[in-house]
Amino acid sequence: MSNCPDPIACTVQNVSSQAAPSLAERLTRPLNIRGKTLANRLWLAPMAGLGHVAFREVAARFGGCGLAFTGMCSARAVPTEKPSVSPVFSWRPEELSSLVCQIFGADPDDMARAAERIQAEGFWGVDINMGCSVSPIVLRGCGADLMRDPERACRMVERVRAAVDIPVLVKFRTGWQPEPEPAVAFARMLEEAGADALTFHPRVAPDRRSRPPRTDHIRLVKKAVGVPVFGNGNVFTPEDCVRVLDSTGCDGISLGRIGIARPWVFAEWTGGFVPTEETYRETLFAFLDAIEKWNIPSRAIKLYKKYVLYYAANFTYGNRLFGRLIAGETMERMRENAEREFAQVPQVSVRPNMLMFTM
Ligand SMILES: Cc1cc2nc3c(=O)[nH]c(=O)nc-3n(C[C@H](O)[C@H](O)[C@H](O)COP(=O)(O)O)c2cc1C
Repeated sequence: MSNCPDPIACTVQNVSSQAAPSLAERLTRPLNIRGKTLANRLWLAPMAGLGHVAFREVAARFGGCGLAFTGMCSARAVPTEKPSVSPVFSWRPEELSSLVCQIFGADPDDMARAAERIQAEGFWGVDINMGCSVSPIVLRGCGADLMRDPERACRMVERVRAAVDIPVLVKFRTGWQPEPEPAVAFARMLEEAGADALTFHPRVAPDRRSRPPRTDHIRLVKKAVGVPVFGNGNVFTPEDCVRVLDSTGCDGISLGRIGIARPWVFAEWTGGFVPTEETYRETLFAFLDAIEKWNIPSRAIKLYKKYVLYYAANFTYGNRLFGRLIAGETMERMRENAEREFAQVPQVSVRPNMLMFTM
Protein backbone atom coordinates (compact mmCIF):
# COMPACT_ATOMS: atom_id res chain seq x y z
CA MET A 1 0.00 0.00 0.00
CA SER A 2 1.21 3.50 -0.76
CA ASN A 3 2.39 5.53 2.21
CA CYS A 4 2.16 8.82 0.36
CA PRO A 5 0.28 11.43 2.43
CA ASP A 6 -1.17 13.17 -0.62
CA PRO A 7 -2.66 10.69 -3.12
CA ILE A 8 -3.05 13.30 -5.88
CA ALA A 9 0.53 14.53 -5.61
CA CYS A 10 1.69 10.92 -5.58
CA THR A 11 -0.23 10.12 -8.75
CA VAL A 12 1.40 13.10 -10.47
CA GLN A 13 4.79 12.04 -9.20
CA ASN A 14 4.31 8.49 -10.37
CA VAL A 15 3.27 9.63 -13.82
CA SER A 16 6.16 12.05 -14.17
CA SER A 17 8.68 9.53 -12.89
CA GLN A 18 7.65 7.01 -15.55
CA ALA A 19 10.35 6.74 -18.22
CA ALA A 20 9.58 8.94 -21.23
CA PRO A 21 8.92 6.87 -24.32
CA SER A 22 12.06 6.29 -26.34
CA LEU A 23 12.41 7.87 -29.75
CA ALA A 24 11.83 4.45 -31.34
CA GLU A 25 8.60 4.03 -29.35
CA ARG A 26 7.38 7.44 -30.43
CA LEU A 27 8.24 6.90 -34.07
CA THR A 28 6.56 3.50 -34.19
CA ARG A 29 3.27 4.61 -32.61
CA PRO A 30 0.52 3.53 -35.03
CA LEU A 31 -0.67 6.10 -37.54
CA ASN A 32 -3.33 5.78 -40.20
CA ILE A 33 -3.66 7.96 -43.24
CA ARG A 34 -6.84 7.49 -45.26
CA GLY A 35 -7.28 4.04 -43.76
CA LYS A 36 -3.74 2.94 -44.58
CA THR A 37 -1.43 2.04 -41.73
CA LEU A 38 2.13 3.29 -41.79
CA ALA A 39 5.08 1.16 -40.68
CA ASN A 40 6.34 4.17 -38.72
CA ARG A 41 6.47 7.95 -38.57
CA LEU A 42 9.92 8.51 -40.07
CA TRP A 43 9.85 9.29 -43.80
CA LEU A 44 12.42 9.72 -46.52
CA ALA A 45 11.70 13.18 -47.99
CA PRO A 46 11.40 13.64 -51.76
CA MET A 47 14.79 14.55 -53.22
CA ALA A 48 15.33 14.89 -56.96
CA GLY A 49 18.59 13.27 -58.08
CA LEU A 50 19.18 11.62 -54.68
CA GLY A 51 16.16 9.54 -53.60
CA HIS A 52 15.99 7.53 -56.84
CA VAL A 53 15.34 3.82 -57.23
CA ALA A 54 19.03 2.86 -56.92
CA PHE A 55 19.38 4.75 -53.65
CA ARG A 56 16.14 3.28 -52.31
CA GLU A 57 17.32 -0.23 -53.16
CA VAL A 58 20.38 0.33 -50.97
CA ALA A 59 18.31 1.92 -48.19
CA ALA A 60 15.89 -1.04 -48.25
CA ARG A 61 18.71 -3.31 -47.03
CA PHE A 62 18.34 -1.62 -43.65
CA GLY A 63 14.57 -1.04 -43.68
CA GLY A 64 12.92 1.15 -41.07
CA CYS A 65 11.54 3.83 -43.36
CA GLY A 66 7.83 4.53 -42.81
CA LEU A 67 7.29 5.96 -46.28
CA ALA A 68 9.71 6.84 -49.05
CA PHE A 69 9.06 9.50 -51.66
CA THR A 70 10.31 9.68 -55.25
CA GLY A 71 11.94 12.89 -56.40
CA MET A 72 9.50 15.24 -58.08
CA CYS A 73 8.13 13.94 -61.38
CA SER A 74 6.63 16.20 -64.02
CA ALA A 75 2.85 15.69 -64.00
CA ARG A 76 2.78 16.31 -67.73
CA ALA A 77 5.28 13.51 -68.34
CA VAL A 78 3.94 10.91 -65.87
CA PRO A 79 0.95 9.62 -67.92
CA THR A 80 3.26 8.43 -70.73
CA GLU A 81 6.58 8.10 -68.88
CA LYS A 82 8.50 4.82 -69.31
CA PRO A 83 9.86 3.59 -65.96
CA SER A 84 12.57 1.64 -67.80
CA VAL A 85 14.23 4.86 -69.00
CA SER A 86 13.01 7.52 -66.56
CA PRO A 87 15.57 8.73 -64.00
CA VAL A 88 12.81 9.53 -61.51
CA PHE A 89 9.56 7.70 -62.35
CA SER A 90 11.07 4.30 -61.69
CA TRP A 91 10.67 1.81 -58.83
CA ARG A 92 10.97 -1.79 -57.64
CA PRO A 93 7.61 -3.57 -57.37
CA GLU A 94 8.33 -4.63 -53.79
CA GLU A 95 8.67 -1.03 -52.57
CA LEU A 96 5.35 0.25 -53.95
CA SER A 97 3.43 -0.55 -50.77
CA SER A 98 5.37 2.17 -48.94
CA LEU A 99 6.36 4.45 -51.83
CA VAL A 100 4.78 7.81 -52.61
CA CYS A 101 5.22 9.43 -56.00
CA GLN A 102 5.72 13.18 -55.83
CA ILE A 103 4.52 15.26 -58.77
CA PHE A 104 4.92 18.86 -59.78
CA GLY A 105 2.87 20.83 -62.23
CA ALA A 106 0.93 24.03 -62.78
CA ASP A 107 -2.34 22.69 -64.08
CA PRO A 108 -4.84 20.83 -61.84
CA ASP A 109 -5.99 18.60 -64.72
CA ASP A 110 -2.42 17.52 -65.54
CA MET A 111 -1.94 16.66 -61.88
CA ALA A 112 -5.14 14.61 -61.78
CA ARG A 113 -4.11 12.61 -64.86
CA ALA A 114 -0.68 11.94 -63.35
CA ALA A 115 -2.29 10.82 -60.09
CA GLU A 116 -4.46 8.33 -61.98
CA ARG A 117 -1.37 6.67 -63.47
CA ILE A 118 0.34 6.69 -60.04
CA GLN A 119 -2.65 4.94 -58.50
CA ALA A 120 -2.85 2.44 -61.38
CA GLU A 121 0.83 1.54 -60.91
CA GLY A 122 0.16 0.68 -57.27
CA PHE A 123 1.94 3.46 -55.34
CA TRP A 124 0.96 3.96 -51.69
CA GLY A 125 0.05 7.57 -52.38
CA VAL A 126 0.65 10.73 -54.35
CA ASP A 127 2.37 13.87 -53.07
CA ILE A 128 1.91 17.31 -54.59
CA ASN A 129 4.99 19.52 -54.62
CA MET A 130 4.13 23.03 -53.44
CA GLY A 131 7.53 23.73 -51.94
CA CYS A 132 10.18 23.66 -54.65
CA SER A 133 11.51 27.18 -55.15
CA VAL A 134 14.13 26.79 -57.90
CA SER A 135 13.42 29.24 -60.70
CA PRO A 136 12.86 26.77 -63.58
CA ILE A 137 10.01 25.28 -61.52
CA VAL A 138 8.56 28.46 -60.04
CA LEU A 139 8.64 30.35 -63.35
CA ARG A 140 6.48 27.61 -64.86
CA GLY A 141 3.84 28.13 -62.17
CA CYS A 142 4.79 24.94 -60.28
CA GLY A 143 6.17 24.14 -56.82
CA ALA A 144 6.21 27.06 -54.39
CA ASP A 145 4.55 29.31 -56.98
CA LEU A 146 1.30 27.61 -55.97
CA MET A 147 1.61 29.27 -52.57
CA ARG A 148 1.18 32.60 -54.35
CA ASP A 149 -2.06 31.32 -55.85
CA PRO A 150 -3.93 29.46 -53.08
CA GLU A 151 -7.10 29.22 -55.15
CA ARG A 152 -5.29 27.24 -57.90
CA ALA A 153 -3.49 25.19 -55.24
CA CYS A 154 -6.82 24.17 -53.72
CA ARG A 155 -8.35 23.34 -57.09
CA MET A 156 -5.33 21.15 -57.71
CA VAL A 157 -5.83 19.21 -54.48
CA GLU A 158 -9.57 18.89 -55.17
CA ARG A 159 -8.98 17.57 -58.70
CA VAL A 160 -6.37 15.06 -57.55
CA ARG A 161 -8.53 14.01 -54.61
CA ALA A 162 -11.48 13.41 -56.93
CA ALA A 163 -9.35 11.44 -59.40
CA VAL A 164 -7.92 8.83 -57.02
CA ASP A 165 -8.65 6.88 -53.83
CA ILE A 166 -5.05 6.61 -52.60
CA PRO A 167 -3.80 9.13 -50.01
CA VAL A 168 -3.15 12.62 -51.36
CA LEU A 169 -0.32 14.43 -49.58
CA VAL A 170 1.07 17.93 -50.01
CA LYS A 171 4.55 19.22 -49.21
CA PHE A 172 4.86 22.96 -48.78
CA ARG A 173 6.91 25.72 -47.16
CA THR A 174 6.45 28.87 -45.17
CA GLY A 175 5.81 30.72 -48.42
CA TRP A 176 7.21 33.90 -49.86
CA GLN A 177 7.33 35.97 -46.66
CA PRO A 178 8.88 35.21 -43.26
CA GLU A 179 5.61 35.42 -41.28
CA PRO A 180 3.91 32.05 -40.66
CA GLU A 181 0.27 33.17 -40.97
CA PRO A 182 -0.09 32.60 -44.73
CA ALA A 183 1.29 29.04 -44.38
CA VAL A 184 -1.14 28.34 -41.53
CA ALA A 185 -4.08 29.57 -43.62
CA PHE A 186 -2.73 27.62 -46.61
CA ALA A 187 -2.59 24.41 -44.53
CA ARG A 188 -6.24 24.84 -43.54
CA MET A 189 -7.23 25.32 -47.17
CA LEU A 190 -5.30 22.24 -48.25
CA GLU A 191 -7.06 20.18 -45.61
CA GLU A 192 -10.47 21.48 -46.68
CA ALA A 193 -9.63 20.73 -50.30
CA GLY A 194 -9.03 17.08 -49.38
CA ALA A 195 -5.34 16.63 -48.51
CA ASP A 196 -4.88 13.59 -46.25
CA ALA A 197 -1.55 14.65 -44.71
CA LEU A 198 0.91 17.51 -44.99
CA THR A 199 4.69 17.80 -44.89
CA PHE A 200 5.80 21.23 -43.83
CA HIS A 201 9.29 22.66 -44.37
CA PRO A 202 9.40 25.93 -42.44
CA ARG A 203 11.59 28.04 -44.68
CA VAL A 204 10.71 30.91 -46.96
CA ALA A 205 10.65 29.98 -50.61
CA PRO A 206 13.75 31.82 -51.82
CA ASP A 207 15.87 30.26 -49.03
CA ARG A 208 17.50 27.05 -50.27
CA ARG A 209 18.60 25.77 -46.83
CA SER A 210 21.12 28.53 -46.00
CA ARG A 211 19.30 29.69 -42.84
CA PRO A 212 17.92 27.35 -40.16
CA PRO A 213 14.27 26.36 -40.54
CA ARG A 214 11.72 27.97 -38.17
CA THR A 215 10.69 24.88 -36.21
CA ASP A 216 8.19 26.93 -34.16
CA HIS A 217 6.17 27.45 -37.35
CA ILE A 218 5.61 23.68 -37.61
CA ARG A 219 3.74 23.91 -34.31
CA LEU A 220 1.43 26.58 -35.70
CA VAL A 221 0.64 24.53 -38.80
CA LYS A 222 0.08 21.39 -36.74
CA LYS A 223 -2.31 23.23 -34.41
CA ALA A 224 -4.31 24.58 -37.35
CA VAL A 225 -5.31 21.29 -38.99
CA GLY A 226 -6.72 17.88 -38.11
CA VAL A 227 -4.77 15.85 -40.67
CA PRO A 228 -1.30 14.50 -39.80
CA VAL A 229 1.53 16.99 -40.20
CA PHE A 230 5.11 15.85 -40.77
CA GLY A 231 7.87 18.28 -39.89
CA ASN A 232 10.92 18.63 -42.12
CA GLY A 233 14.20 20.49 -42.10
CA ASN A 234 17.63 20.12 -40.44
CA VAL A 235 16.82 17.01 -38.42
CA PHE A 236 20.20 15.27 -38.36
CA THR A 237 20.46 13.52 -34.98
CA PRO A 238 18.07 11.63 -32.66
CA GLU A 239 18.21 14.71 -30.37
CA ASP A 240 17.08 16.96 -33.25
CA CYS A 241 14.24 14.54 -33.93
CA VAL A 242 13.05 14.50 -30.30
CA ARG A 243 13.31 18.29 -30.12
CA VAL A 244 11.14 18.82 -33.21
CA LEU A 245 8.56 16.24 -32.10
CA ASP A 246 8.43 17.73 -28.57
CA SER A 247 8.38 21.38 -29.48
CA THR A 248 5.88 21.17 -32.33
CA GLY A 249 3.58 18.24 -31.54
CA CYS A 250 3.92 17.16 -35.18
CA ASP A 251 2.95 13.60 -36.09
CA GLY A 252 6.25 12.51 -37.55
CA ILE A 253 9.41 13.60 -39.29
CA SER A 254 10.42 13.67 -42.91
CA LEU A 255 14.21 13.24 -43.22
CA GLY A 256 16.03 14.68 -46.19
CA ARG A 257 19.80 14.85 -46.43
CA ILE A 258 20.68 12.74 -43.37
CA GLY A 259 18.59 9.93 -44.83
CA ILE A 260 20.75 10.10 -47.96
CA ALA A 261 24.07 10.34 -46.13
CA ARG A 262 23.10 7.55 -43.70
CA PRO A 263 20.48 5.30 -45.31
CA TRP A 264 20.42 3.18 -42.14
CA VAL A 265 19.23 6.13 -40.05
CA PHE A 266 15.60 4.98 -40.32
CA ALA A 267 16.48 1.55 -38.92
CA GLU A 268 18.73 3.19 -36.31
CA TRP A 269 16.11 5.57 -34.92
CA THR A 270 13.07 3.30 -35.19
CA GLY A 271 14.62 -0.07 -34.38
CA GLY A 272 17.99 0.35 -32.70
CA PHE A 273 20.20 -0.66 -35.63
CA VAL A 274 23.82 0.18 -34.81
CA PRO A 275 26.05 1.04 -37.78
CA THR A 276 29.65 -0.15 -37.77
CA GLU A 277 32.66 0.80 -39.87
CA GLU A 278 31.67 -2.07 -42.14
CA THR A 279 28.24 -0.47 -42.64
CA TYR A 280 29.92 2.67 -43.98
CA ARG A 281 32.17 0.68 -46.33
CA GLU A 282 29.50 -1.73 -47.58
CA THR A 283 26.96 0.99 -48.23
CA LEU A 284 29.26 2.84 -50.58
CA PHE A 285 29.95 -0.32 -52.59
CA ALA A 286 26.28 -1.29 -52.56
CA PHE A 287 25.52 2.14 -53.95
CA LEU A 288 28.16 1.78 -56.67
CA ASP A 289 26.56 -1.53 -57.72
CA ALA A 290 23.00 -0.20 -57.60
CA ILE A 291 23.72 3.00 -59.50
CA GLU A 292 25.35 1.00 -62.31
CA LYS A 293 22.54 -1.53 -62.36
CA TRP A 294 19.79 1.07 -62.74
CA ASN A 295 21.45 3.61 -65.04
CA ILE A 296 23.31 3.98 -68.29
CA PRO A 297 26.97 4.92 -67.60
CA SER A 298 26.63 8.65 -68.40
CA ARG A 299 23.77 9.04 -65.94
CA ALA A 300 25.30 6.67 -63.38
CA ILE A 301 28.40 8.81 -62.97
CA LYS A 302 26.40 12.03 -62.58
CA LEU A 303 24.17 10.49 -59.93
CA TYR A 304 27.12 8.85 -58.19
CA LYS A 305 29.01 12.13 -57.88
CA LYS A 306 25.90 13.85 -56.57
CA TYR A 307 25.41 11.13 -53.97
CA VAL A 308 29.03 11.03 -52.85
CA LEU A 309 28.91 14.68 -51.78
CA TYR A 310 26.41 13.69 -49.08
CA TYR A 311 28.15 10.42 -48.26
CA ALA A 312 31.55 12.05 -47.82
CA ALA A 313 29.96 14.56 -45.40
CA ASN A 314 29.83 11.68 -42.89
CA PHE A 315 33.59 11.79 -42.38
CA THR A 316 36.07 14.20 -40.87
CA TYR A 317 37.93 15.93 -43.72
CA GLY A 318 34.93 14.93 -45.86
CA ASN A 319 35.61 17.72 -48.30
CA ARG A 320 39.00 16.34 -49.27
CA LEU A 321 37.65 12.80 -49.29
CA PHE A 322 34.90 13.93 -51.66
CA GLY A 323 37.47 15.35 -54.09
CA ARG A 324 39.44 12.09 -54.05
CA LEU A 325 36.34 9.92 -54.46
CA ILE A 326 35.02 11.74 -57.52
CA ALA A 327 38.33 12.19 -59.40
CA GLY A 328 37.94 10.82 -62.92
CA GLU A 329 35.19 10.38 -65.47
CA THR A 330 34.32 6.67 -65.50
CA MET A 331 32.58 4.36 -63.09
CA GLU A 332 35.70 2.13 -63.13
CA ARG A 333 37.68 5.07 -61.74
CA MET A 334 34.97 5.72 -59.12
CA ARG A 335 35.26 2.12 -57.96
CA GLU A 336 39.06 2.28 -57.82
CA ASN A 337 38.83 5.51 -55.83
CA ALA A 338 36.36 3.95 -53.38
CA GLU A 339 38.56 0.85 -52.95
CA ARG A 340 41.59 3.00 -52.22
CA GLU A 341 39.86 5.48 -49.87
CA PHE A 342 37.91 2.80 -47.99
CA ALA A 343 40.76 0.28 -47.65
CA GLN A 344 40.54 1.68 -44.15
CA VAL A 345 37.23 3.40 -43.30
CA PRO A 346 37.83 7.13 -42.70
CA GLN A 347 37.01 8.66 -39.31
CA VAL A 348 33.22 9.16 -38.95
CA SER A 349 31.86 12.48 -37.56
CA VAL A 350 28.91 12.43 -35.17
CA ARG A 351 27.15 15.12 -37.18
CA PRO A 352 27.72 15.27 -40.93
CA ASN A 353 29.75 18.21 -42.23
CA MET A 354 27.11 20.91 -42.51
CA LEU A 355 29.06 22.95 -45.02
CA MET A 356 28.90 20.07 -47.47
CA PHE A 357 25.20 19.65 -46.79
CA THR A 358 24.48 23.18 -48.00
CA MET A 359 26.52 22.94 -51.21
C1 LIG B 1 19.30 17.67 -53.79
C2 LIG B 1 17.93 17.93 -53.22
C3 LIG B 1 16.81 17.68 -54.01
C4 LIG B 1 15.53 17.95 -53.50
N1 LIG B 1 14.44 17.66 -54.28
C5 LIG B 1 13.19 17.84 -53.78
C6 LIG B 1 12.04 17.42 -54.52
O1 LIG B 1 12.15 16.85 -55.62
N2 LIG B 1 10.82 17.67 -53.97
C7 LIG B 1 10.66 18.26 -52.74
O2 LIG B 1 9.54 18.45 -52.29
N3 LIG B 1 11.74 18.64 -52.01
C8 LIG B 1 12.98 18.42 -52.50
N4 LIG B 1 14.08 18.73 -51.73
C9 LIG B 1 13.87 19.27 -50.37
C10 LIG B 1 13.88 18.14 -49.33
O3 LIG B 1 12.76 17.30 -49.48
C11 LIG B 1 13.84 18.73 -47.90
O4 LIG B 1 12.70 19.54 -47.78
C12 LIG B 1 15.08 19.57 -47.57
O5 LIG B 1 16.27 18.90 -47.95
C13 LIG B 1 15.13 19.90 -46.07
O6 LIG B 1 15.17 18.72 -45.31
P1 LIG B 1 16.56 18.18 -44.64
O7 LIG B 1 17.10 19.33 -43.85
O8 LIG B 1 16.14 17.01 -43.80
O9 LIG B 1 17.48 17.82 -45.77
C14 LIG B 1 15.36 18.47 -52.20
C15 LIG B 1 16.50 18.69 -51.41
C16 LIG B 1 17.76 18.40 -51.90
C17 LIG B 1 18.97 18.60 -51.00
